[in-house]
Amino acid sequence: MLKHDIDLPLEKIIILDFGSQYTQLIARKIRELKVFAEIVPYSCSIRDIKKENPSGLIFSGGPSSLYDSKAPRIKKEIFDLGVPILGICYGLYVLVDAFKGKIEKANYREYGHAIVKQKNHSLLFKNMKPKESVWMSHGDRVVSLPTGFIASASSENAEIAAIENKVKKLYGVQFHPEVHHTKRGLTLLKNFIFGICQCRPTWTMKSFINSSVKAIQEEVGDGSVLLGLSGGVDSSVTAALLQKAIGDKLVCVFVNNGVLRKNEANQVIDKFKKHMKLNLRYVNASQQFLDKLKKIELPERKRRIIGREFVKVFMKEAKKIGKFDFLAQGTLYPDVIESVSTKGPSSTIKSHHNRVPEILKLIESGRVIEPLKELFKDEVRAVGRELGMAEDLINRHPFPGPGLAIRIIGEVTKKRIKILQEADHILVSEIKKANLYSHLWQIFAVFLPVKSVGVMGDSRTYENVIAIRGVTSVDAMTADWAYLPDKVLRKISNRIINEIKGINRVVLDISSKPPSTIEWE
Ligand code: XMP
Repeated sequence: MLKHDIDLPLEKIIILDFGSQYTQLIARKIRELKVFAEIVPYSCSIRDIKKENPSGLIFSGGPSSLYDSKAPRIKKEIFDLGVPILGICYGLYVLVDAFKGKIEKANYREYGHAIVKQKNHSLLFKNMKPKESVWMSHGDRVVSLPTGFIASASSENAEIAAIENKVKKLYGVQFHPEVHHTKRGLTLLKNFIFGICQCRPTWTMKSFINSSVKAIQEEVGDGSVLLGLSGGVDSSVTAALLQKAIGDKLVCVFVNNGVLRKNEANQVIDKFKKHMKLNLRYVNASQQFLDKLKKIELPERKRRIIGREFVKVFMKEAKKIGKFDFLAQGTLYPDVIESVSTKGPSSTIKSHHNRVPEILKLIESGRVIEPLKELFKDEVRAVGRELGMAEDLINRHPFPGPGLAIRIIGEVTKKRIKILQEADHILVSEIKKANLYSHLWQIFAVFLPVKSVGVMGDSRTYENVIAIRGVTSVDAMTADWAYLPDKVLRKISNRIINEIKGINRVVLDISSKPPSTIEWE
């Protein structure tokens, strides 16, 4: 967990996860309000929670019904901590159950928009309307109040839609303040964290950088750190943060696997070595990767080969440099929290070592540094900006580890890589020129090994096809195909066909995920 800031103690809210799909969203909303929030499983020990000295606790929603024999419940000692608590949906039932109120199955599930009516002027509803539009998703309802509580709101289907015990600072709401559809949900969260928990808005990217630089310096001491740099946002920001903390004791290795985008290797070297003065080792292993990829057509085999060769090349280079005390990784918070909503409420936070590849064997101590492991992607971008990194680097679209190899359908050859690099370059340049790049999650070209007939000048051509794939998304779990203006598409198509030898047809992919995936392979 995060070390305290240099000047101000880090006030934090701890979210106990009962498995809601919205748990991460609660953390993000609170951090948007500049208060640090972290997620722990609901079964986290009281001792561990106490150690963190939280200013407030939130019980998340969850998929269970308190009627189930295995329904997750909370240890009663949590209420002895004297810390304010907000229960959301299932979290409300947990409070009701703990203080001997009664819950029963509602006649029908309430799902979607609902109106709640305030009662008793609760501090939780300050600056909110007497009737608020909220988002509900539940099958149970409270039928009798727990001891010491009053009702602070009702809805059409439930006389008790919010409860509170002002003296003990315990609050519960049946609806979800963290979702966008609850109009003044953020006001409610503000009321809880500032009005009730008395937090101050001190969590900023500047304070994060200060505290993590100090923490890295303490941890690393005179040691050395090895980092695999890909040129993507996460490893780049990790590098910049580590460099600020320990300077040249950070060594970055950048491997060219031969399936990078056009000019990418040069750009990475230029940006990181020349401008940022990073201690960077560049290994061009293109030929080695291409040799291994010869005649390979199956996507999963391509992935395995590229992964295996990367480990080999990276390890060989690292051994040449010498011994390292730490391995750094650009792991983010969503990789760390294994939401119980997918694995069932008994699962715990993922062991970090699951994420560390064989490369860890290089580090005698087995120690890993993951300075971004508490951050969401948008926070990583904000850290990058605060560290003075260029906007085009921070806003780069995700690029898969196996690179262009999984965007060339079928066998990967030098000629096909060259064609795809050119097509991708034209596509991305035109999209940037049209100011569309930052509105898209990803846009890229795919090489199809299909041949079709065309006509150029007076002669017949028989060449390959390039597909354009552009999507919008928030997390890559789902994605919509992106609408692109005709004018821009026409320019892209003309340029690709006219400028690239070997392509005589461009097609547009209009499939969403699911059922398609973002990448073609
Ligand atoms: P799909 O194709 O599964 O992609 O919808 C979801 C996101 O993951 C990226 N992706 C990969 N990233 N190695 C990576 O590092 C891979 O093998 C890989 N496959 C897909 C993809 O670009 C998208 O952002």
